[in-house]
Amino acid sequence: SSQLQHITSQLQKLGLPDLPSHPDVLLYPQNNPVDVYRAHIIQQVQEITGAEPKAIDGALAWTLDLKHGDLVLPVPALRLKGKKPDETAKEIAEKFSSPLLAKPTADKTFVRFFFEPGSLAGFTLPTILSKKDGYGFNSLLGRKDPKDSSSPQKLVIVEYSSPNIAKEFHTGHLRSTIIGGFLVKLYERAGWKALSMNYLGDWGKQYGVLSQGFDKYGNEESLKTDAVKHLNEVYVKINQDNYAEQKPVVELKAKIDELKKLKTPPKPKKPAKGEQPKPVPEHVWTDEQETELEDTVKQLQAKLKELEALPSIDEKARQFFRRMVDGEPEAIANWQRFRDYSIERYKDMYARLNIFFDDYSGESTVKEADMEAAAKVMESKGLSEESEGAIVVDFAKHGKPKLGKTLVKKRDGTSLYLTRDIAANKERDDKYHFDKMIYVIASQQDTHVAQFFEILRLMSPPYSDIVAKCQHLSFGLVKDPKGQTMSTRKGTVISLADSLDDVHNYMHEVMKKNADKYAQIEDPEATADLLGISAIMVQDFSGKMVNGYNFDMERMTSFEGDTGPYLQYAHARLCSMKRRSEIPDSELPSADLSLIMGAKEGVELIRTLAQWPDVVLNTLKTHEPVTVLTYLFKMSKALSSCYDAKDTANKNAKTMSVVYAESREKKVALMALYESARLVLSNGMKLLGLTPVERM
Ligand code: ARG
Repeated sequence: SSQLQHITSQLQKLGLPDLPSHPDVLLYPQNNPVDVYRAHIIQQVQEITGAEPKAIDGALAWTLDLKHGDLVLPVPALRLKGKKPDETAKEIAEKFSSPLLAKPTADKTFVRFFFEPGSLAGFTLPTILSKKDGYGFNSLLGRKDPKDSSSPQKLVIVEYSSPNIAKEFHTGHLRSTIIGGFLVKLYERAGWKALSMNYLGDWGKQYGVLSQGFDKYGNEESLKTDAVKHLNEVYVKINQDNYAEQKPVVELKAKIDELKKLKTPPKPKKPAKGEQPKPVPEHVWTDEQETELEDTVKQLQAKLKELEALPSIDEKARQFFRRMVDGEPEAIANWQRFRDYSIERYKDMYARLNIFFDDYSGESTVKEADMEAAAKVMESKGLSEESEGAIVVDFAKHGKPKLGKTLVKKRDGTSLYLTRDIAANKERDDKYHFDKMIYVIASQQDTHVAQFFEILRLMSPPYSDIVAKCQHLSFGLVKDPKGQTMSTRKGTVISLADSLDDVHNYMHEVMKKNADKYAQIEDPEATADLLGISAIMVQDFSGKMVNGYNFDMERMTSFEGDTGPYLQYAHARLCSMKRRSEIPDSELPSADLSLIMGAKEGVELIRTLAQWPDVVLNTLKTHEPVTVLTYLFKMSKALSSCYDAKDTANKNAKTMSVVYAESREKKVALMALYESARLVLSNGMKLLGLTPVERM
C-alpha cells in the first residue's frame, strides 16, 4: 500500500533497510506507527537475547504514562533461562542501537524504550491524515485468517438492551443499550461482522394481565403514538385493579376470623325457686344475639365464596396466557399489536442513541419444540428431576452447589425465563452459526446467566460447544443522584425518554447562553440532543462496567471534569480552528513537521496520538469503554496544553497557536498536528457511540 511505501521511504531517509518482518508476529505498521518500532525492537532484542519474536511481542507493553517510555519490556516476561533479568535488561539497554529510538534505559528488570520524536511524527501524522476515520482500526482482525483480507469475516452476536414490553425502559436497559452499541462498533471496526440482537421480554402471564388492562383502559390512538408509554400506564392501572380486587377478599377473610374468635361467655345459671334472677351481665349474649352472630358469619362466608368464584384478573391472565402458548389467533392478536407498536417506538429512541438492531427476537420467539428437545436432553443426562409436580435442576448434584436449585418447568407445564434462554442459545447458533456471542445483561441477573450457561455446559455437545462461544458481559446498577436504588414502586425510576428529554433541555439552555455561537448553529435542537446524549454516555462509561454509578444530571452536563460536554467542546474547538485556518486538507500530508518539534507539549501530543491503535487493540481485550475514554481525556489534555505552549525551536517562533504562526509553512504543520488530533478524537468518540459536533 502507499502507506507502506511511505514507511519504506522514511526508513531509507534514516539510512535503514525495509522493516524487518517476523512471520509469527502480527504487525500492521501501515495502520499502527508503534508497530514500526516494535519490528525494530523485536529484531534487536532477539539478536541480543535469543528470545523468540513472539515472546518479545507478547511482553512489550505500552505505558499509561509516557514518562515511563513509549514501550516497556519487562524482561522476566521473556522467560529466559540462565541470566538474571536485571542483567539482561542492562545488556539490552547497552547493546540496543537504532536511529529510530533514543538509547533505552534499564530500570531494574525493565527496559524502557523512547521513540525519537522526529521519526515518530513522520510515521504518525501522515498515517493519521491518510487513514482518516480508519486510523486505529485494523479490519484484518475480524477475518478467520488475520493475515488474509480475502478470508471470511467472523460473526459476533451482541445481545443487548432487551427491555420488557409494558414495563419501564429503565436506566438498566439504557446501560445495556449503550454498552452493547459500543461493543458492536468495536467489533465492526476490527473487521468482524457484528449482529445487534434485541431479546425482548415479550412473553409470560403478564401479557394476559396487560390484555385485560387494554380492554378496560387502552385506546388505539395512544397505542399508535407512544405504545411504550401507553402500555406501561395501562399495565400499572390494571395491576392496581388486581390489587384492589384482592383487597375485599383479604378483608373479608380477616373479618370472619375476627368474629369467630368472639367466644360466647357462659350463660348464668337459672335462678333457684324464690330467688331473684340475677341481672344479665352486659357481656353475656342472649340466645338471639348469638344466633345473630352465627348468621353474620354465615352471610360473610357466603359472600366470600361468591367473590372467590368470580374470575379474578390473575386467574383470567393465567388462562389467557395458556391460550397464547397454544397459539390461539384471537389471544395472540392484541399481543402482536402491542409488540409491533412497542418496537416502532423503541426504534425511535434507539435512533436518538444512534443504535439499530438487526434482529428483534424475544422470549416469545423461542419455539416450544426447542424447549421440549432441550428438556429431553436435560432429562436423559440426569440433569433435571421431578419435584412436587414441577421439573428442577439441583446444581449441588452436579458439583456447583453455589448455583442452588432452579425450576425449569412449572407445574402447569408452561416454560420459564430460564428455559427460554436455554433453548434460544442453540436456536441462535442454528440460525446464524456465530463465532462469538456476548450477552450484555445487568449484574442482578448474574446467577440467572451462570445457571443457564452451566446447564448448557452440562448438556454436552452440541449445547456445550455453543455455550463455549458465549460470554456474559455484566454491569453494575445505576442509582439515583444520592446513591439510592431506583424503584418503580417508589416512583424513582428514570425512564429513557424522560432522561433524554431532560438532558436535551438542559444542554439547550446552556447553548443559548452564548447568543453569538448559538446563532451559527444550524440545527440547535439536534445539537442539544447530541450533547445531552454524550453527557449520559460518558457518565456511563466513566468507570469499569462492574461498578454501578449514580445518575447525576448536574455532574454529567458540566463542562469541567471528564464529561461528555468537555469532549464535545474539545472537538468543536478543533473544528473551529480548522475553519479559520483556511488550510486545505490536501496540503497537510506534505507538511514540514520539523517546524513543530520545538515544544515538548507538541511532542507529547504526537506520542499520545501514536498510541491510539494500541488503545483500540487493548479495548478489544478488556471490552471496557473506559479504556477508550481514559485515553481520550488524556489526549484532550495533552492537546489543550499544546495550544499555548512555547515553541523553543527558533527565535522567530512564538507558540504552537495556529493564529500566531510565524509562517504559512508553520501553519500547515500545526494544522497537520491539530487535524490529526481531531481525527483521533472523532474516531474515539464515534467508537463510543457519540456523534462529535462541529459547533456548539
Ligand atoms: N428482558 C430482561 C429484563 O429486562 C433482560 C433479558 C436479558 N437477556 C437474556 N437473554 N436473558 O430483565
